[in-house]
Amino acid sequence: MSTEHRVPSVTTPEPRRVVLVDSGPALIDGPVDLVTPDGSVLHCDRFRVALCLCKRSSIYPLCDTSHRLRRRREQADSA
Ligand code: FES
Repeated sequence: MSTEHRVPSVTTPEPRRVVLVDSGPALIDGPVDLVTPDGSVLHCDRFRVALCLCKRSSIYPLCDTSHRLRRRREQADSA
């Protein structure tokens, strides 16, 4: 009796690129699975996924561009 052992092919995946936007989101090349603190998994199959870093998004952990409003207010306050 022979037992065939197959070694799974090992490929080195391309490093996933994460771009941090000044005062904005982190842009991650998709697709990605986001695991939230409660353990749920959010599958995002977009080409690029924007993760909210300001925690003001109504669709957190995804960015809804609410960070832009904050930036406009800060600019108005300094003018
Ligand atoms: S980073 Fe865009 S809404 Fe938070």
